[in-house]
Amino acid sequence: MSNEILNYDKVAEASLAKAKRDGAETMWDRKAAQKTQCGFGEAGVCCRICAMGPCRVSPVPGKGAERGICGANADTIVARNFARMIAGGASAHSDHARDIVHAMHATKAEGPFKIRDEAKLRRISAEWGIEGADTKETYALAHELAEMALGEFGKPFGTQRFLKRAPQARQDVWEREDIAPRAIDMEVTTLMHSTHMGCASDYESIFRRGMRTGMADGWGGSMIGTEFSDILYGTPTAKASSSNLGVIDKDQVNILIHGHDPNLAEMIVLAAENPEFIEMAKAKGAKGINIVGMCCTGNEMTMRHGIKIAGNFYQQEMCIITGAIEAVVVDVQCIFPALPALAKKYHTRFISTSEKAKIAGDMFIKFSEATGLDNANEIIKIAVENFPNRDASKVEIPDIKQDTLVGYSVEAIIDHLDKVVNTNTSDAMGTVKPLTDVIYAGVIRGAAGVVGCNNPKVEHDYAHVTVLKELIKRDVICVVTGCAAQAAAKAGLLTLEAKEMCGRGLKEVCERVNIPPVLHMGSCVDISRILHLVNLCADVKGIDPALLPVVGIAPEWMSEKAVAIANYVVGSGINTYLGIIPQVLGSPNFTKLMTEDCQEFLGAHFVFEKDPLVMVDKIMVDLEDKRTALGI
Ligand code: SF4
Ligand code: FE2
Repeated sequence: MSNEILNYDKVAEASLAKAKRDGAETMWDRKAAQKTQCGFGEAGVCCRICAMGPCRVSPVPGKGAERGICGANADTIVARNFARMIAGGASAHSDHARDIVHAMHATKAEGPFKIRDEAKLRRISAEWGIEGADTKETYALAHELAEMALGEFGKPFGTQRFLKRAPQARQDVWEREDIAPRAIDMEVTTLMHSTHMGCASDYESIFRRGMRTGMADGWGGSMIGTEFSDILYGTPTAKASSSNLGVIDKDQVNILIHGHDPNLAEMIVLAAENPEFIEMAKAKGAKGINIVGMCCTGNEMTMRHGIKIAGNFYQQEMCIITGAIEAVVVDVQCIFPALPALAKKYHTRFISTSEKAKIAGDMFIKFSEATGLDNANEIIKIAVENFPNRDASKVEIPDIKQDTLVGYSVEAIIDHLDKVVNTNTSDAMGTVKPLTDVIYAGVIRGAAGVVGCNNPKVEHDYAHVTVLKELIKRDVICVVTGCAAQAAAKAGLLTLEAKEMCGRGLKEVCERVNIPPVLHMGSCVDISRILHLVNLCADVKGIDPALLPVVGIAPEWMSEKAVAIANYVVGSGINTYLGIIPQVLGSPNFTKLMTEDCQEFLGAHFVFEKDPLVMVDKIMVDLEDKRTALGI
């Protein structure tokens, strides 16, 4: 692995040069300090789950120690390490979802936490079998639904309620293979138990328990996170935004919201509209207050409010290095612990807000549903009052930004399709049938969900953008979430004009439906929107989604959450392509189980491929094979 600075995004070059001039440390300095990363860890064969260890076994069969002190071999150690990543990822998404549900439980008509999509509240209440879903008083119903949702985390019996959204054929696979997830906390706990020292050693059994825990994330925590956020804050609709560091405005008070949970960010966006704060900002010499987003908090806010996207995961330090951020406000997940020290190099205040992600080094303001708006007011005040402390000589904002379209929830996509149905066909409205039809007709060859993080093991955004450009050129419609969505935004792929980069079929679809060829579907928990969309398409044809020409892709992933996601996507019958090789190669048996054998019982498998161009070639073969099998 090379330690050189790799730059796809042009802003990076300027930012990192400025960081050097300012004497500010970045992830690249720390990456260089790591020197060569541990080969045992990379292969997944280092075990430290008990105090007899750590033990490391040889990643090469027949060379060196083949077993740890307890006798665990590479298969067991790799499987356990991988499974524990799934548990970590599923916990993060699901605990985020639980906080959303708690916020819903705290809603009142007089707000600030209130129900903004009542129709969706009633729809999901009916879907979950609540009597009187269409007649009960809004807040009584919201509290009842919230309590039911809290049960999904810890109920003693039964499986996740949203599983019923899948066609029967897929539900049958889950039943047969015993991977239908039960209560979310139960799955995580069982997996941690199962991978405790001296429990499971059978690598396939560990893989299956891991898969079920991943499924608890996708069809449980993530789906609850998405749907309940929509009820609380509104279901996204298509809207304009802009992206990249150039959205930071040197004339305004800039507040960067970063993390994943929209609860506090919603309050900040609401509070920033208060004319008193705008006046206060003007009194301090600023023209106004500019909220910019990063990572998935940014995605949540851009999907619902058009908040500008400052960048993705890899740009969190670069934002501060502009010298023009008055406050970085973070909630949970994907926040570098390095940020407070970096902020101190400038005038930036760093404010962490969640007990679960209390970050040492600057300020902590505890967010709660009871005090949410007060917390937001306090944060905005701190930012505004910090504006005069800005050092003009340190301000340098790369003049690069890109217009973008965001907000394509499943409902927004159906809404766009309805407009075509209305004018051109006699099909029923309110369904995804027109999308399935163009795939079956071959006008577009298939669909891809491109998701995930950035990872300094590869050139920033290069794999995201390359995969997307090559796929749309080959008439594959793409949906994006997370940092992949922000990479696509910065590259201009989330625009109507991007149709010019498409093959003929996809271009025609974009023109008729008036959509970009790459659709921003939200944050990482919103991969559940993609799951829902694929399952609705499969439902139209009455088939298992595993038969559809669709793939999941994570070109630059890095987090445990991504491991949980990849598992539930495969468990949902969708082949999943990973551009970063997971730490499993130390067990050829486990690797084969993931990349080949699980096809047999799940109808899908993982593909590891570092080269984005080779990956696209493999995907096209995969999609065309699916088409042939369907006879389309
Ligand atoms: Fe070593 Fe076994 Fe303990 Fe792992 S569980 S650290 S392999 S003794
Ligand atoms: Fe994310």
